Amino acid sequence: MKQFISVNDVPDINALVKKALAYKANPFADKALGAGKRIGLLFLNPSLRTRLSTQVAASNLGMEAIVFNVDKEGWALEFEEGAIMSGNTVEHIKDAAPILGNYFDVLAIRTFPSLNNRDDDYSEMFINQFIKYAGVPVVSLESATLHPLQSLTDIITIQEDSRLKAQDSRLKIVLTWAPHIKPLPQCVANSFAQWINKWGEADFVITHPEDYELDEQFTKGATITKNQDEALKNADYVYVKNWSTYTDYGKIYDNDPSWMLTNEKLALTNNAKVMHCLPVRRNVELSDEILDGPNSIVTQEAGNRVWAAQAVLSEILNAK
Ligand code: CP
Repeated sequence: MKQFISVNDVPDINALVKKALAYKANPFADKALGAGKRIGLLFLNPSLRTRLSTQVAASNLGMEAIVFNVDKEGWALEFEEGAIMSGNTVEHIKDAAPILGNYFDVLAIRTFPSLNNRDDDYSEMFINQFIKYAGVPVVSLESATLHPLQSLTDIITIQEDSRLKAQDSRLKIVLTWAPHIKPLPQCVANSFAQWINKWGEADFVITHPEDYELDEQFTKGATITKNQDEALKNADYVYVKNWSTYTDYGKIYDNDPSWMLTNEKLALTNNAKVMHCLPVRRNVELSDEILDGPNSIVTQEAGNRVWAAQAVLSEILNAK
């Protein structure tokens, strides 16, 4: 694997999941693979899970990880080609990225969308500029539109869990919108849809209120409904996530609290396991009774972030 930006960089999802679960069973199986190699983890936005799980994953492979909180500690970067830098930005990415590529064997970067300009965000300018100028493999730690390490983790968690269940029929996975007080990116939802669609091993339903349609390039192939109760019927997995509007970009239209998953709604499902990428606002986006109840697998899911990152770094090191 030369880079990890989306599911399109993964030739075989199940093989990658298998690799991740093998690392979970034996974390130090390849402890010398990354010896003498260094990864730079660049954050333009906050993180708990992504930062720490990737550091642990690199360490398990014998690789040194150096974290740089660019937003707090670095010069303000300019990404626009031909920019006249008379404003707040101090260093152009075309100057900074090759230097980072000199210091590191692999670069991983987290950038969020602005949620102001859809065309700019969906062009993925930030991560694409890194790829263009870094000269080393680039791993997305979440970009403007996608969060592939999270989605790989989600499929690992579903596969790991569903093996334990007696399943006579195809799995049903539901992605449901949930309320939130702030406009959030569409990245996790876009990416989850993209991965589940490409994986193709489950019936996939997306449910959201009016005006919360996601970009069709990611959702095509899923059943989409505005009737949450209907969607939840017989679900095996319910993935809960808020996202802001895509069409009239980056807005909150409807924050109907009745969209929050409760035990009453969960009763419609096939005793579904409940997933969320975290962080989660309790009793806004997801209820205490769900998060603290027996159906929540959010902690297992977050734990699996290590094995997803380790499998990806391993593939990248093997390709170098
Ligand atoms: N799910 C996730 O990416 O968590 P962090 O934002 O804490 O990294």
